[in-house]
Amino acid sequence: MKRFHVTTFGCQMNEHDSERMKGMLESLGYAEASVREEADLILFNTCSIREKADERFVSHLYDARALKRRDPERVIGVGGCWAQSVKDQVFRDYPFVDVAFGPGQVHKLAEFLTSDSLTAQGFFEFEGFTGHLPGKRARDVHAWVQISAGCNMKCSYCIVPSTRGREVSRPFEELVDEVRQLAAEGVREVTLLGQNVNSYGTRLRPEPRKFSELLRAVDAIDGIDRIRYTSPHPAHMTEDVILAHAELDSVCQHIHLPLQAGSSRVLKRMRRTYGRERFLDRVALIREHVPDCAITTDIIVGFPGETEADFVETLEVVEEVGFDGAFTFIYSPRRDTEAAEFVDEFVPHEEQVERMERLVEAVQRRARERAQRFVGRTLDVLVEGPSRYDPAQLRGRTTHNKVVNFDGLAAPGEIVAVEIATATSQSLTGSESLLSRVA
Ligand code: 5AD
Ligand code: SF4
Repeated sequence: MKRFHVTTFGCQMNEHDSERMKGMLESLGYAEASVREEADLILFNTCSIREKADERFVSHLYDARALKRRDPERVIGVGGCWAQSVKDQVFRDYPFVDVAFGPGQVHKLAEFLTSDSLTAQGFFEFEGFTGHLPGKRARDVHAWVQISAGCNMKCSYCIVPSTRGREVSRPFEELVDEVRQLAAEGVREVTLLGQNVNSYGTRLRPEPRKFSELLRAVDAIDGIDRIRYTSPHPAHMTEDVILAHAELDSVCQHIHLPLQAGSSRVLKRMRRTYGRERFLDRVALIREHVPDCAITTDIIVGFPGETEADFVETLEVVEEVGFDGAFTFIYSPRRDTEAAEFVDEFVPHEEQVERMERLVEAVQRRARERAQRFVGRTLDVLVEGPSRYDPAQLRGRTTHNKVVNFDGLAAPGEIVAVEIATATSQSLTGSESLLSRVA
């Protein structure tokens, strides 16, 4: 029996796509190898969001080349966003690659593997949702559900519209059926995935759909206790979506709302389609309807032309909102994006690093302060497994997506009440409430 090994880089959509890749390979009769060295088929699901992602991946690719030199029968496949973005050069620059495919052509890998062709092949036209392929879930009680592919926004820093193409939504009923099937298999938590998840459905025919309608339909499915989604765009964060968090039990008390920058001038040059006030107004609406909702974000520092005054505006928004957490990035120019051409205005690297340090300090301090509201409360925690720090403890997540390391007896997949004792910017600690066991 042939064996495959997949290394995944990048976002949750890539994790989802890799699960589908694995499911598809198993249906072709392949088995998963635990280490790359033992695989006949070495696959990479790649990311190209920042330069660092590229660099990390390429060193793995050379590792695969070394393995192929030892055993030339090995097949090396490269899928995902990096592959898509270098489609014209991939076979020239990396002649040891046998097959390359973009995020919308994962099924073509099967065609390649079952054909007699010995020549290298690339597949780069969008053909279908990976969500249609058989799945192989990493966790029993959690599933990714791909609700759309691609992105129609034009954020000037972002490579994704060019790697994942125009936005296409999957049919509403098909998604509801898929989640119903997952619930029947024991899944309790689903994460709805799209590059711009809350613009779902607007162009569906014959009947356009709203993202909030999908949340309602999924909430109504028996057995689904938690619904998460990522990533939404602030411009499409309409009141009906926010109300879904207030009114539907299973929609989690967490919204990831990517800010990117706090200065309206920078946001405009990023082509984000909202300004500082509109973002703050979305936050106010969330806090009005869902007061306990955790809000996390993504922020880029050192975007071309960002002045000290612009950056201070980002710090002000961070102070004012008090995010529960944030992913922070130094701007990285990407091939074929508009902002990569603003070369004259690139912010010197030392300045970017200095701003990043100030940003991280503010983000962490505010997140730590915000997390104190959980201390002394008893929160429902979905158990994931042993704690990464102390195997005698358990690890799980609250509805706010906060990681909790706690003492307890629960099994993975259970939702248990945990009394919260301490809180840092990153995680909580506590112990399982014995009362909840008796009940
Ligand atoms: N440089 C730095 N960060 C970026 N992101 C996207 N493109 C870039 C880039 N060129 C960040 C954004 C996005 C997150 C997934 O990655 O903050 O929300
Ligand atoms: Fe990376 Fe973006 Fe592609 Fe996800 S969509 S894999 S983050 S480039």
